[in-house]
This record gives sequence, structure tokens and C-alpha cells, in this order.
Amino acid sequence: MSKPLHLGLDHFDSQIRNALAKGLGLDAESLKLERPRDEKLGQFAFPCFRFAKEQKANPKELAQKLADSFQVDSITPSATGPFLNFQIDPSALVKRVATDAAQSNYGAGNLSGKVVVEYSSPNIAKPMHVGHLRTTVIGAALSRLAERAGHDVARINHLGDWGSQFGKLVAAWNRWGNEGELENDPIAHLLQLYVRYHEEEKEDETLPADAKLAFQELESGEENETRAIWKRFTEFSLREFNRTFERLGSEFDFVRGESWYEDQLDPLLEWLESTGVLEESDGATIVDLKEHGIKTPCLVKTAHGTTLYATRDLAAAKSRWEEFQFEQALYVVGAEQNLHFQQFTTVLKKAGCEWANRIEHISFGLIRLLEGKLSTREGRVLSLTEVLDRAVELAAEIIEEKNPDLSDKEAVAERVGVGAILFHDLKHQRNKDVVFNWEEVLSFEGDTGPYLQYSHARCCAILRKSEREAPSFDSINLELLSDSPELFVALGRYPQALRESWEKREPMILAQHLLKMASAGNAFYRDKRVLGEKEELESARLCAIDLLRKTLADGLGILGVPTPEEM
Ligand code: ARG
Repeated sequence: MSKPLHLGLDHFDSQIRNALAKGLGLDAESLKLERPRDEKLGQFAFPCFRFAKEQKANPKELAQKLADSFQVDSITPSATGPFLNFQIDPSALVKRVATDAAQSNYGAGNLSGKVVVEYSSPNIAKPMHVGHLRTTVIGAALSRLAERAGHDVARINHLGDWGSQFGKLVAAWNRWGNEGELENDPIAHLLQLYVRYHEEEKEDETLPADAKLAFQELESGEENETRAIWKRFTEFSLREFNRTFERLGSEFDFVRGESWYEDQLDPLLEWLESTGVLEESDGATIVDLKEHGIKTPCLVKTAHGTTLYATRDLAAAKSRWEEFQFEQALYVVGAEQNLHFQQFTTVLKKAGCEWANRIEHISFGLIRLLEGKLSTREGRVLSLTEVLDRAVELAAEIIEEKNPDLSDKEAVAERVGVGAILFHDLKHQRNKDVVFNWEEVLSFEGDTGPYLQYSHARCCAILRKSEREAPSFDSINLELLSDSPELFVALGRYPQALRESWEKREPMILAQHLLKMASAGNAFYRDKRVLGEKEELESARLCAIDLLRKTLADGLGILGVPTPEEM
């Protein structure tokens, strides 16, 4: 296996583990370093308890023994009780990190193989809501993290474009549809039709009958009138969704709705039958999962012979496996669908698919709007577009107040507003519910997107203001930066943040690390003069600012947060 390049501090991490492994007679891969509780003690710590126990030694004595025999250039060990701490010589640290961080693919991993990431997947004819915000931004961030780790990624948008509700929608359209309104605001009009259908369905028996017929026509697979209408609904909805995807910076390799798997449903059911997992229950076809600890069976076909959401997910999973032979298939879908995911993946396992173990449901918590004047309008759920628009409006107000002379204010407000929403979503552990408070989301101070964007823009401003030629990296005297190891420790831990963020499927780890980098950067330009220093020193410090700018931009890019150069 080739080693990943440009490791930053991970470079020293493996040097230390290799040396310790020799001393302990163990494999370096089995050792894990921590961070000392106090940064002053060094950059790495090795707790000796476990190994002392294995070797029937006293942890303190073992720490001392390992310290005495440790010999790696530029790394000084010190035993503090049962811990072994390691201090990297600042000059070696700065040199290594600066050289690595200057590379274009800083922190890239050496994993390989296909990873499928399914995310966003909104429902046709309905507005995207804040839950779709989470899947869209988490999914896009995980896809980029997987790519940086070395994987080949297939991004899939599994649109909700199939099911009996589309029969209802067609029936409603045939009665009350209005061409002009559809053109004008397709999703609002379709939503209106859907609501009206449900209001009138009870009084008018012909309505459900028409809806049923329409869905049968759809399911027949023939190119009829009903299908043409449904196709238009899909196209109109997608046009709207695409605008949101563009604003959020998310892209897909495949936009394949549930309907895409339609002709695979019969073969799927035949295959399930052949594996012997199907049972009949009151006329419906189910897979019993009790022996796998799931009380509710998975329904794959109703008594009326129609297939279901789960049937389509089974077909989609199988089709993805056959097409991609994935290492992992991630589904970024809210926690309210936990049971559904347990069910259909367990069906696959029961049917003998070893590969079903590679499916991961990446679930996430809810967004709660904090009540108050900026939270909801008329107490209803906000659509995603409304949330983004509101954020942009607020960002525009703040920019107007702080920097009224900024050029291209509108474009910057869009990038700041959207960036604020994105970062707010990604800085939390994904499974926790997110409380949404407008003022906090958009604050330019604290743990926010605008704060990071501002830190980045400030680097850009310093570089702009310098009257010297942009310093070329090779001509810098890196030695002059040895007085600022903290900034380089933060930059040097970037590869680790990327790696762990992907391993744990937790964009939060990267988001939190970027905040640390920004605050190390703030301390750097608070304490160290950059512009107006002697040429050699100014160049070196400008180079540090440039590395910070570049790494912040890279990390924010992976999260999908835009990085305006001025704000
Ligand atoms: N369309 C669904 C929704 O908006 C999400 C689809 C999730 N993906 C899946 N493969 N079931 O709630």
C-alpha cells in the first residue's frame, strides 16, 4: 500500500508510534497517541496503563523506561507519571507542516474503492424543508471527505417520485390544474392541488377512484397521458430543486428517483421468493424479521399488489451493488427513518447478501427553530428556500452596517447567508437535534460560518495589502516562523481532522477543527506584526498567512461553505 503524502503532524505521529512499537515489541498500527491534556506538555501523549498491565510492569516505570530509550530526531519525550509526552522541536514542526500544507492535496488519504453516497432525495411536488437541508449538506460534505480520503465517489439523489400519491396528484391536476400557476410556481401549485385532493376526497367518491386509476396507468409503464403529466411534474420540481442544490453547492452524479427502479421490482420480488424469505400475511407479502430482533415485518407488496417504499429501496440497493460493487454505501437520511433502514437492510442480509453489511444509514437529528421574532412565520414549518432567503437578507443587513462600501454586496450576502446556514448545520454532531437561532447562526463572532469566512477574508486582505511580491514558498526562511508553533500545530492537525471526520462520518470534526485553526490564526496576527516588518520576516509571516488562508479555504470548501475574499 502506498503511503499518503502531505501528512502534517501525522508524520510525527507515525514516527513516534514506530519507535514506541519497537520498544514495546508491538505493531505500530496497534498504538494510538492522544493529545496531552495541557498543550504545553507537547503535541502527543502516550498513556502507558494498558501496556504496563500487559507487561506486568508499573505504568510510571514503563513510561520512564520508554522515555529513556526513545531516540527520534527533533522529538523530545518526557515521562509525566504514567504518561509519556512528546514535544516536537518547533523548527522541525514548522518546516514539516509548512511544506505539507503548501501542497495542493494536503491531507489526502490513500484509501481506494467506490463509495456510494445517497443524499438529499427530496419529494417531487413538495417543497424541500429544513430536514432536506441537513441531508443535502451532510451528504455533500461526506462525499468530499470520502474523495479526499482517496475514494471514488458516486453521489446519488434518490428523488421521491413514485407511489400512490402521484395518482392523487394527477387526478387533482385533471380537475383543478392551472397551467399558468404551474409555470409560475410549480411546487406551490402542486402542493395546493395535493392539499385540495385531501380536503375533497371524503365528499367525492369519484376522486379516489380516479386517483387509483391514474396510479395504475403510471404503474403500467406505458407512455400514456398520465405518465406525460407526471413527467412534467418531475421536471418542474427538479428545476426548482436544482436552484437550491446550486445555492448549497451540492452536485450529483446520478439523479435517479424511486421510479428509476420500477422495472426492477418484479425481478426483485422473484429473487426474494427464490431465497425463501417471503411470507404471506393477510394477502400481503412480507419478510418476517423477528428472529433478527425487529418486531415489525418488512412489507414488500400490499394485498392490492402494489409495491412500496421499502420494495423500491431493496431494488435500489441491489442495483447499486451490481453497478458499483461499493466498499460502502451511505444513505444520509433523518433518524425518523431508522426502522425503515433496519428493515430493508436486514431483509437483504436474511436473503444472503453479504454486501448488505456495507450499507450505512447516516442518520441525523432534527432542526428546531427557536421561537421568537425571527423564527417562524405564522408558526408553520419553513421551507428550505425561505430559510436561505432569510439568512441572506440578514447577512445583507449586517454587511450594510459593517462594510457599506463593499463591492458586489448582494453576491457576498448570498455567500455569507448560505455559508452561515451550512456551517451551523455541520458544526453539530449529526445525530443531535440542532437548535436554530438566527442571531447566533449569523453572528460574525463565535463558532459560526461568518466568523470563519471573515477569518479567511482577513487573510486575503493582509495578502492584498502587502506591497511586496507574493512570497515564493521556496525562498522563505521558515526558521523565522519557529516562534509561532501554535499556528503550525493547528495547520498540522488538519489532515487528522479530515481523516477522522471521514472515518466517523462526522463533518463536525472538520468544522470544529477549522474553528481552532481560525483562532490560532487570530492569535498569530494579534501577537505578530506582519506588514511593515523587515523584508525577510514579513515574507515569512505572509507565507504563514497564506497557508492559513489556503487551508481554511480548503476545509470550508469541503464543508461546502463559500469563501468570499472580501466581506
Ligand atoms: N424521499 C424521502 C424523504 O424526503 C427520503 C428518501 C431517503 N432515501 C431512501 N433511499 N429511502 O423523506
